[in-house]
Amino acid sequence: MARKLEGKVAIVTGASAGIGEATAIALAAEGAKVAIAARRSGHLNAVAERIKNSGGQAFPIVADVANEIQARDIVERTKAEFSCVDILVNNAGVAYQGEIDGANTSELESIPTQM
Ligand SMILES: NC(=O)c1ccc[n+]([C@@H]2O[C@H](COP(=O)([O-])OP(=O)(O)OC[C@H]3O[C@@H](n4cnc5c(N)ncnc54)[C@H](OP(=O)(O)O)[C@@H]3O)[C@@H](O)[C@H]2O)c1
Repeated sequence: MARKLEGKVAIVTGASAGIGEATAIALAAEGAKVAIAARRSGHLNAVAERIKNSGGQAFPIVADVANEIQARDIVERTKAEFSCVDILVNNAGVAYQGEIDGANTSELESIPTQM
């Protein structure tokens, strides 16, 4: 049976863990070529290997989506690798744990690297 996303190209940001990792694996299982982006190269490469070992196509891109140049680079590098972009899963993000009342702008803008 034909897979639903055969020939499609997807970008998944925040694909080194959690929902993004699971989404990238699911898209690849349906036939999509997936560009996976996050900051932690080790985690990202492990996800890419997992997808490739299952017969899928994955292209890891180490990038911080909070940096506009790096965010744009994810798209450009994906187009260079896979020719186009059909799907964007803009998943990268963190949960802010503090009180909004009294938070300052730099706290809200900072995105700590996970361990
Ligand atoms: N899980 C929930 O219950 C829930 C609820 C509401 C909303 N969400 C949202 O759903 C998304 C995924 O959640 P999750 O639970 O899967 O989170 P997670 O397990 O903490 O994963 C977050 C992913 O985002 C990446 N990331 C974070 N900041 C980044 C940055 N600046 N640039 C590039 N990648 C970045 C992380 O990779 P690196 O650290 O390697 O960069 C990681 O791959 C997040 O946006 C979260 O806010 C989740």
